[in-house]
Amino acid sequence: MSIKEIQDEIIKLKKEKDICILAHCYQNPEILEVADFTGDSFGLSVEAAKTDAKTVIMCGVRFMAETVKILSPDKKVILSNADAGCPMAEMMDKDLIEQVKKSYPDYTVVAYINTTSELKTICDVCVTSSSAVTICNKIESDKILFIPDCNLGDWVSQQIPDKEFKLLSGGCPTHARMSKEDVKKAKEKWPNAQLLVHPECKPEIVELADYVGSTTGIMNYARKSDHKEFIIGTENSIVTHLQMECTDKIFHPLSKDCICHNMKATTLTDVLNCCKGVSGDVIEMDEDTRIKAKKCIDKMIEMG
Ligand code: 13P
Ligand code: SF4
Repeated sequence: MSIKEIQDEIIKLKKEKDICILAHCYQNPEILEVADFTGDSFGLSVEAAKTDAKTVIMCGVRFMAETVKILSPDKKVILSNADAGCPMAEMMDKDLIEQVKKSYPDYTVVAYINTTSELKTICDVCVTSSSAVTICNKIESDKILFIPDCNLGDWVSQQIPDKEFKLLSGGCPTHARMSKEDVKKAKEKWPNAQLLVHPECKPEIVELADYVGSTTGIMNYARKSDHKEFIIGTENSIVTHLQMECTDKIFHPLSKDCICHNMKATTLTDVLNCCKGVSGDVIEMDEDTRIKAKKCIDKMIEMG
């Protein structure tokens, strides 16, 4: 079967079986083309709460599929590839954070959405990279325990200097691959290019950037900008998507190594097989965990 034939079959099955496909922007173009909604983590969670399809297929990583299940317990939620986990989300568990909380009893616990649903049950509010600054600003408390990404936490804390942030040393192994040396080399090679980076990058990179934001933020900035050349410091699929869309502009990856193999685990045939009901991982969650985890996601949607 050709890519086009597989895509046509997916579109046919979606209609027949009332399936909604959500895809994170880090997915490959042939998957984004058959999705009903594409976006960053925040956009996907908002969309997950709105859709009324019977079945949702999440083309992304496990915590994203769990978020859909938390918000839509009556839907059948399928993670498109059972092996697609986020290493950052699995870095810190509930027991560890329960211990840490004992040392910071008067801190509001802000959890990046890249966390397991079990860990979310003991957090106060979730954030995504596009909503973190807004939400941390709105939180009444001026003491914030931000987990698990210390790079994102550092970037947020710089913008809210009147609040006290406690950070733990977690983060995204994909974004951590980029270094100051990569920035130096890229700027020498493309001196007229603007540097756009994700806040999951190390602070030494973030401080050299012309723009810092979520995947959607980076894409919107590049689309609207009068600049013609950009170095992109996030997962390299964003370079491809932008280059396909903005043909009058040039996009370079900050590092050719910034590829998230978990996000890339999903193939178009995985999506087809999920539609046929013969592949993917159906997300199951006990009701107690779901209700407790939902509180901090609801709060994020309300505040973000
Ligand atoms: P955003 O979708 O919030 O930009 O996050 C990027 C990411 O790494 C998702 O896992
Ligand atoms: Fe997780 Fe990083 Fe991959 Fe996003 S890019 S899914 S944070 S490992």
